[in-house]
Amino acid sequence: MHITIRQLQVFESVARHLSYTRAAEELHLTQPAVSMQIRQLEQAVGLALFEQIGKKIYQTRAGELMLGHALTIQEHLELSKREMDELKGVDSGRLSIGVVSTVNYFAARLLAAFSRKHPNVKIRLDVTNRETLLRKLESNEPDLVLMGQPPNNLDVNASDFMDNPLLLVAAPDHSMAKMKNISLDSLIDETFVVREPGSGTRLAMERFFLDHDFKPKSTVEMAGNEVIKQAIEVGLGLSILSAHTIELELSAGRLITLDVIGIPIVRRWYVAHRTGKRLTPTALSFKQFVLAEGERKSKN
Ligand code: PGA
Repeated sequence: MHITIRQLQVFESVARHLSYTRAAEELHLTQPAVSMQIRQLEQAVGLALFEQIGKKIYQTRAGELMLGHALTIQEHLELSKREMDELKGVDSGRLSIGVVSTVNYFAARLLAAFSRKHPNVKIRLDVTNRETLLRKLESNEPDLVLMGQPPNNLDVNASDFMDNPLLLVAAPDHSMAKMKNISLDSLIDETFVVREPGSGTRLAMERFFLDHDFKPKSTVEMAGNEVIKQAIEVGLGLSILSAHTIELELSAGRLITLDVIGIPIVRRWYVAHRTGKRLTPTALSFKQFVLAEGERKSKN
């Protein structure tokens, strides 16, 4: 069945007016042109769509059914046009951002600032740990992700935008609170509270320990930065956490950092997407916004 959109438009107009003449006027066509389109459509479907009784024309049963489909097709065409127009604009459309849990401490601020500039953009923020985020990145789910070290087993386009120092965190009454240049080895008997497997913070900590040939005698595993901070605060042990997660606790004196040689572990935050991804104007504008914010922060 070969049907053109033009035929459906003409058909819909004739069906609405039940008049070839009025359809021709509405569509700025001649009446024979309208008749021709209807005849071709009838040939394509293999059934009559209208019947003329006396001076009046009526829809046949086939015409009634066809009208339903013609209206649905028109609606879909209009919807697709609207959606394409949305994608063309920076000030509208959707933006889906995935972040590792540690980024969550500043992601909300970033998104709020972006949203003030582009109030019509609908933003979706997805917070997971590194491993889950990598899976989503692999299946091309989010427009952009904000994460630590980009993966080397996946084709990604990653641009770094801000420092992510990892600090050694302790309770304020820790015996080494006032010491300078503490060697990592002198912490061998401490309990280290570590993030869950799959966390980027944990990965960086493990790499640091491996590089320094250091293996703490005891470790306790906890899922998420918040619960670890609480455990450290009540004296369960030490941890290595991103500076972004402990700003409030440090300024309130609820946590301190120890001056350990080799710490801070210097890392960067990255904004990334799969190589070859066609960023929408909104996603591109968010990426540029993040890079500019990073630059502004590094100058302050
Ligand atoms: P995380 O990621 O929140 O999974 O620890 C942080 C990072 O990649 O540095």
